[in-house]
Amino acid sequence: MNIPDTSKILVTCAKGIAPFLEEEIKSLGFRVGSTHETGAVITGKFTDTYKLNLELRTAYNVLFLLKEFECNNPTDLYAETGEIEWENIIPADEYLTVVSQTENPSIKNSMFANQKLKDAVVDRMTKRIGKRPDSGPERKNVVINLYWKDRNAWIYLNTSGGKLADRGYRKIPLGAPMQETLAAAVLLAAKYDGKSHFVNPMCGSGTIAIEAALIALDKAPGLLRSNYGFMHLKNFDKIYWQSLRKETLAKSKKGLDQKIIATDIDNRAVEAATANARTAGVEHLIEFKVSDFSVTNVPSEKSIVLLNPEYGERMGTSTKLEGTYKAIGDFFKQKCKGSACYVFTGNLELAKKIGLRAERRVPFYNGDIECRLLEYDIF
Ligand SMILES: C[S@@+](CC[C@H](N)C(=O)[O-])C[C@H]1O[C@@H](n2cnc3c(N)ncnc32)[C@H](O)[C@@H]1O
Repeated sequence: MNIPDTSKILVTCAKGIAPFLEEEIKSLGFRVGSTHETGAVITGKFTDTYKLNLELRTAYNVLFLLKEFECNNPTDLYAETGEIEWENIIPADEYLTVVSQTENPSIKNSMFANQKLKDAVVDRMTKRIGKRPDSGPERKNVVINLYWKDRNAWIYLNTSGGKLADRGYRKIPLGAPMQETLAAAVLLAAKYDGKSHFVNPMCGSGTIAIEAALIALDKAPGLLRSNYGFMHLKNFDKIYWQSLRKETLAKSKKGLDQKIIATDIDNRAVEAATANARTAGVEHLIEFKVSDFSVTNVPSEKSIVLLNPEYGERMGTSTKLEGTYKAIGDFFKQKCKGSACYVFTGNLELAKKIGLRAERRVPFYNGDIECRLLEYDIF
């Protein structure tokens, strides 16, 4: 078997993000078949994966289903994988990576499944065409994903290659930066659409402000990336990809009517955020300033104010932070009247110190840490 014309496309995401991913997929005109904790499934053509990779802000990987089969042991895995016409899918001079998630008693560790699947691919190619791709762990070119649960296995072509969260603009990491896809999901949860001012005190390395600028510009995050898994396959339609990219770029706005303000008390954070925004091409759209959050200027017209303070798990300690959270409540009351105010935190005990009733609590995960986006309406 070769690559099917249409197949299931599994779009994966981090835990907690699926409702936002589903909305994004629907807004691109796709019908979502099912959604689960870490992804959504649609049915589509292979080239649909180009658009999904380019446009989705909250997705992790876009996987195109090649084959689904009953798999009881590594011998089945090798035999079923070897029936796929890899010589028509992967150029022999490519670099191949296999990643897998396995839950089957015949397999103790997923590295063994990776190895077995990789052997089936390269053995078939060597037999058919006398050549085979190099292989290794770096997810830089052709990536194959295996899911093997009980007696069922699924083999996907990973059309993203590396994870889509790596937009490529965060050249200077700092402290505990938020993943780009999580920042985008948090902004969607805060209903930010670029039509109001956006204020981000405690901006750290600038991820949230940069993602806000991309949303406000209607700029697809994938325009910042130059490498995708699909580009390394034999069926890569370069002409279609280039026209899609051009069309997507043409619909991005050139400037913004509303302000984006990002501040941090640490000048190294503001320097890193400015450099990252420059790499993302949005530096000119964000007003950066070194300042304590409590003196950040909030425009008097409609604004969204969003803070991601430290919450004691990875940085700082809770006792030290109690005063900061109390001061956030004071800042909202004194300087943010008429604004929609949000705090993203992984520490709900500290959040109580804000001293205001949250109108909405949106659950998220930052890695393994359960977090909330708390919404406060300040009248
Ligand atoms: C959890 S980090 C924010 C991470 C950010 N979302 C990112 O993606 O990089 C919290 C930031 O708050 C800043 N901060 C701490 N206390 C502050 C204060 N009183 N005023 C302004 N910024 C402060 C720290 O310097 C740090 O950069």
